[in-house]
Amino acid sequence: MPHVPVLLQEVIQMAAPRPGERVLDCTFGGGGHTAGILRQTNCYVLGIDRDPDANARAEIIKEQFKSRFDFEHMKFSEIGRLVEKHDKFDVVLFDLGLSSFQLDDADRGFSFMHCAKLDMRMSMEGESAYDIVNGISRKELSTVIDYFGDDPKASRIARAIDEARVKKPIETTWELADIVRSVYKLPPGQRKNSRTDAATKTFQAIRNLVNCELLELNRALENVVHIINNNARIITITFQGLEGRIIKCWAKSMKVCITPINKTVIRPSRQEIATNPRARSAILRGFVYTDDARVRSVGEGIQRSE
Ligand SMILES: C[S@@+](CC[C@H](N)C(=O)[O-])C[C@H]1O[C@@H](n2cnc3c(N)ncnc32)[C@H](O)[C@@H]1O
Repeated sequence: MPHVPVLLQEVIQMAAPRPGERVLDCTFGGGGHTAGILRQTNCYVLGIDRDPDANARAEIIKEQFKSRFDFEHMKFSEIGRLVEKHDKFDVVLFDLGLSSFQLDDADRGFSFMHCAKLDMRMSMEGESAYDIVNGISRKELSTVIDYFGDDPKASRIARAIDEARVKKPIETTWELADIVRSVYKLPPGQRKNSRTDAATKTFQAIRNLVNCELLELNRALENVVHIINNNARIITITFQGLEGRIIKCWAKSMKVCITPINKTVIRPSRQEIATNPRARSAILRGFVYTDDARVRSVGEGIQRSE
C-alpha cells in the first residue's frame, strides 16, 4: 500500500505556509506532507526522520524541489540542536506513528500482517522487539501492555508470553500475535466488539517501548519553543490516546504562549477513511506560538520571585 499523507489539505490549511517561510517536518516518512507543503507555496522545508530508509525518499524530494528542501537523519527529541546551524522555523509538523513504508516492509517486523523476525526499531539500532519480548520480566511486560497498549487482558497476555518463551524464544511477529490471540480465544483479524485484531494493542505497546515514543514526543515538545519564530504554527497528528494526552498537557502548561488554532480537534472524513483506512484514528491539532515580550517578562518575573 503506498503511503498516503493523512489529513493533507487540513494540515496545509492549518500550517498556512507563506512564501519565504521555513517549515520543519519532524516526521518526514515518505515526504507526503512535505511535498504537499512545498507545492502549496514558495517556502522552505527541512525534513527529519530517525529511520535511515527515509534518506532515499528524501533524495527524490530534493531532486524535485532543490534548494527549497533539505533532510537530516535524526530523532525529533534532538530538534533543540537545530538552532546551531539553521534559522528558526515558522511551521513545525509532527505526524506521529509509522509510515506505510515501515508497516508494509516485512523485514522491519512492525506488523503481524507479515511473518517476520520481531524488530520494530524505527532507527534500526538499539534493543529490538525480540530483545524486549524475550528479555523483560513478566511483571514489566504486563505493565507495558497495560500502560502503552491499554489492553484489559495485559496481565494474562504477559503470562501467556512468559509461558511460551520458557519453551523457546518468541522469534516472529506471527508467534507473538498468536500468543495474544490465544488469550482472547479469537482467530486472526478479530476481536470481540471491535474491528481490530486482538494483537493490535500488544504490538502498539511493544513498539512504543522499543522506540521510546512518548519520551521522544515529550522531549520534542520541551524543545520546540526554542526553534520557532513568533506566530509559528505547531501542527500535530496523533494516533494513540497517550500521545494526545501528552499534547494536551503540554498545550495547557504553555497556554501563556500557545493558543489552539481550532476549538475542537479535526478527524478524517468518512471519505478519507474509506480511501485510506490507516487514517481512521488520526487526530489533528494545531497551535500558534506567540513570543510576546510582555509574556516573557511575566515569565522572568515569576522565575525571579521564586
Ligand atoms: C506517519 S509517518 C510520517 C509520514 C509523512 N508525514 C508522510 O506524509 O509521508 C511517521 C514518520 O515519523 C518517523 N518518526 C517517528 N518517531 C520519530 C522520532 N522520534 N524522530 C524522528 N522521526 C520519527 C517515523 O520513522 C516515520 O517515518
